[in-house]
Amino acid sequence: MPITADSITGQWTVHRPDSLKLKKHVLHAPPLQDIDIIDIRQAAVEINLKEDINSLFNPENGPRRLPTLLLYDEAGLQLFEKITYLDEYYLTNCEIQVLERSAVEIARVIPSGSMVIELGSGNLRKVILLLQALENAGKSVDYYALDLSRKELERTLAHVPAFKYVRCHGLHGTYDDGREWLKSTANLTRQKCLLNLGSSIGNFERDEAASFLRSLADVLRPTDLMLIGLDACQDPGKVYHAYNDREGVTHQFVLNGLTHANRVLGERVFDEAHWKVIGEYVFDGEGGRHQAFYAPTRTSVVMGTVMRPHERIQVEQSLKYSQREAAHLWKLSGLKEVCRWTNSDNDYGEWFLIYFPQSSVMTALGTFPFGQIRYRVVIHPTFSAEPAGPAKHEPME
Ligand SMILES: C[S@@+](CC[C@H](N)C(=O)[O-])C[C@H]1O[C@@H](n2cnc3c(N)ncnc32)[C@H](O)[C@@H]1O
Repeated sequence: MPITADSITGQWTVHRPDSLKLKKHVLHAPPLQDIDIIDIRQAAVEINLKEDINSLFNPENGPRRLPTLLLYDEAGLQLFEKITYLDEYYLTNCEIQVLERSAVEIARVIPSGSMVIELGSGNLRKVILLLQALENAGKSVDYYALDLSRKELERTLAHVPAFKYVRCHGLHGTYDDGREWLKSTANLTRQKCLLNLGSSIGNFERDEAASFLRSLADVLRPTDLMLIGLDACQDPGKVYHAYNDREGVTHQFVLNGLTHANRVLGERVFDEAHWKVIGEYVFDGEGGRHQAFYAPTRTSVVMGTVMRPHERIQVEQSLKYSQREAAHLWKLSGLKEVCRWTNSDNDYGEWFLIYFPQSSVMTALGTFPFGQIRYRVVIHPTFSAEPAGPAKHEPME
């Protein structure tokens, strides 16, 4: 399969012949009782959410907020799935484009015997492209979809074709629960590839994103991989409309967070009819991002606090990462970029990263077959990825 690398940008293009096109998904979904879902929850999410609602709504300093997690209950996940089909929500289409072009290449790097764990799996329609490529390559892997709603895991996993080599499972819990689960000896010793798609990392503050990735790196061995999908779009109009679509689906999705808050609080604190969603694009010293807020349409009392129509509560942010900002994030996280695939406009990327334990001295940890080259990974206090054979293309740096 020809692979070319642009000598200036270092960007890889894979020219995939028709014979390697991903097979159309024939849905022979497993019966519901056969779907393996592991409950990895360590604490009741609803209890934590209640505490978070109270502390974020009444901060000691700074603006009022509500937890972003409120957006992802069963109804929220179904609304989010609708969002992913909107034309304005370019993120999903861009990522599908990257995966259609590159899934074969990405699958080649994931060794047989791996666990592939997707953190915040959502509706799975993108990851199926990668799973199909792994299946086509005859890679025997265990795929784990981790998300917050058991019912949604059941529903979405039921749409995954019954593969021969790829075994699918659900992990019901939070990212934190997933990290603890990965620490068990049986999981710790297995080759892993963590996936975080859909630019979910953009929901964290920049420093929090680095700590989150670093905490994941703690459960990885140095030859394990992370595949992270990140939105690099710097076009304010495009970003704004992605989160403020014509049909109002995204605002409905955000408003559902107030219904979820009422349920968690056990009373109708928010009358959804008298609240609206405000979206805004911001570009400042911290970079570009979209922010979503709630505002009452008339004076309302929330948990004893009077809120007037001009007041806002922030519930979500979606940070955009230029390539320079992404490189900085990997550095702060102790991760090393091994390869990157982007869409045709270069504003969405999938990054393959390996854990880079800066303080330890280790050598000869494995090889990565990228395209026609195998990279020998040697980890010292200073990292080097050296081609192990004749190199026709250079890795991205
Ligand atoms: C932006 S959506 C992305 C969904 C999917 N990965 C995609 O690319 O379309 C974020 C996903 O992460 C999940 N999520 C958010 N916070 C989470 C947490 N703390 N623990 C587990 N899942 C979480 C949500 O339920 C949702 O499915």
